[in-house]
Order: sequence, then structure tokens, then C-alpha cells
Amino acid sequence: MQTRRSHHLPWRRAGNLADNDLSADEIIRETGWVFNNQTGDELNLKEFVATGDKEVQRYIRLLELENISFESSTLLEIGSGIGRMTSTFTNRCEKVIAADVDSAFLERCRQTVARLGRIDRLNTLHVINGRTLSLNDNSVDIAFSYITLQHCQPQDALELVNEAIRVTRSGGTIILNFRTWVRSDIALVPLGIIMRSLWKVSIIGPRLARWRWSTRFGWQANRLKPDTVLAKVAPQLTEIKVFHSKKRTLKVLTTGKNSIKVIPINRINPSHWWLVAQVS
Ligand SMILES: C[S@@+](CC[C@H](N)C(=O)[O-])C[C@H]1O[C@@H](n2cnc3c(N)ncnc32)[C@H](O)[C@@H]1O
Repeated sequence: MQTRRSHHLPWRRAGNLADNDLSADEIIRETGWVFNNQTGDELNLKEFVATGDKEVQRYIRLLELENISFESSTLLEIGSGIGRMTSTFTNRCEKVIAADVDSAFLERCRQTVARLGRIDRLNTLHVINGRTLSLNDNSVDIAFSYITLQHCQPQDALELVNEAIRVTRSGGTIILNFRTWVRSDIALVPLGIIMRSLWKVSIIGPRLARWRWSTRFGWQANRLKPDTVLAKVAPQLTEIKVFHSKKRTLKVLTTGKNSIKVIPINRINPSHWWLVAQVS
């Protein structure tokens, strides 16, 4: 069953492209929506997944996650796409649940993992309404999400954060990536709104969903500040860390009894921040 909510349209359109006759390598090369910043006539699925592999390694180091025993963990990835990072996670974890709003992406994700990861360790989960996860409470050890929550409507993103916490066992870890405000948003945010309305127009819409420049504008659906997220979920968490780029300052109010560590790091996008915490 497909959702009819308008902000899911870009993903459905991209998913439809992934669902046609293109091979995985062709999808990486020929559609504009590859989920990293690498493009090129020679790019193939293996290289695409290698970028995910490198990023997973980098974030484990930057986000101080080296002590987590991934090998005995069940990891939920919210917004797996076609499996750029999922393959790596299946190589590192006991079990991986790849969740996405688009079922065609999940099918591609299974194919990617079958080629480059451990398919025996993978389950997929369709997030039909873009905000709830049909998983039991306390069913995973780690909930991870990268460049996904920024693409949801703010309420959906906050609901997915709640869901990530609900399904993660007590003592488990959430590792969630968000996008917050930067100066260029003065132009980017209105452009995104225009692009998403053009997406609904027949003939033009499907083309805009294919080109890289237009997908980049249209996909950006929210900016969430740490305070907005933490006001909702901090009471359910301990050991809260907020990581952000050294190139900017990021105001985080420490509320209630929870102490929150704010840690500036190198090599992350100035518009991004990460919430890493243990579930109480
Ligand atoms: C930019 S891609 C990132 C994919 C992957 N995390 C990566 O780094 O390669 C964003 C993904 O989020 C998915 N997505 C968007 N909104 C979602 C929602 N509300 N629930 C679950 N997945 C969503 C899209 O279908 C897409 O696969």
C-alpha cells in the first residue's frame, strides 16, 4: 500500500524510477538522486556502497561509538534508501532492520545487500505512513538514521524520533542525524517549497524528480533545532550527546535533570547535528 501524503511524493517518484528496468549500477549513474555527493559516468553500486562504508567508519569514530558491540546488536536503520549504508551494517551487526517510506527502495536495498552485504542478517520494514514503525517495544539495540529525518515533515520527524526510542531497548543507543538552520536556508527553504509543489504537476513533476539539482531542493523538508527535539524526548534518555560542526556555534539548552554534552567536531556538514543517547 502506498501513502498519499504529499511530502512523500518525491520519494515515491524516485522509488518508481528505482522500480523500472534500470540495473542498480544504472540507477546510481543515471538518476539524479544518489544519496551522497558523488556522481560520474563510471560510478557503480559497489563504489556507491563504499561511500556508505567509509561514512559508517567515520561516524563510529567521530560520534564516540567505538564501545558499542555492533557484532551482537540488532540495528534499525530509519531511511535506508537503496542500501548504501545498510550493506555495511549487515557486515557489522548480528541483525539489521532496514526501514523506509518507499517499498521500491527496500526491494533495491535487499538486492544491494545480497550483492555486497549479508542478506541473511537483513529484514526490511515499510514505513507506510512515514511516522510509525510496526515493531515491538524494546526490539532493537541501536536505532540509526542518516540524512532522512530532515526529509520528513517536522511532526513526522519528531514522531519517528519517539518511535526510535520506543523500539530501542533500555540501555540501547539512538544515533540520529538532523538538519538545522544555516544562513543559505533563507533561499533554500522557499525554493524547496516551490519545488515540492511543482512535483505535483503532471509531466514536469516526474522530470523534476529525476534531475539532481531539483531533487536536492525538493527533498529538504525541515530544519529542527536540538532544543525542539530534546524538549520532546530528553526525559526518556540518558548520556545525551549533541554533536555539531566546529565551523558553527549551536545553542543547546540543558533542561531538567538531564545533562547534555555538546560536542563540536570536524568533518560534518555545518547544517547537520547528531543526537547520540542511551534509552533510559
Ligand atoms: C537521502 S536518502 C538517505 C538514504 C541513506 N540513509 C543513505 O545515507 O544513503 C533518504 C531516505 O529517507 C527515506 N525517507 C524519507 N522520508 C521518510 C519517512 N518519513 N520514513 C522513512 N523513510 C523516509 C527516503 O525514501 C530515502 O530512502
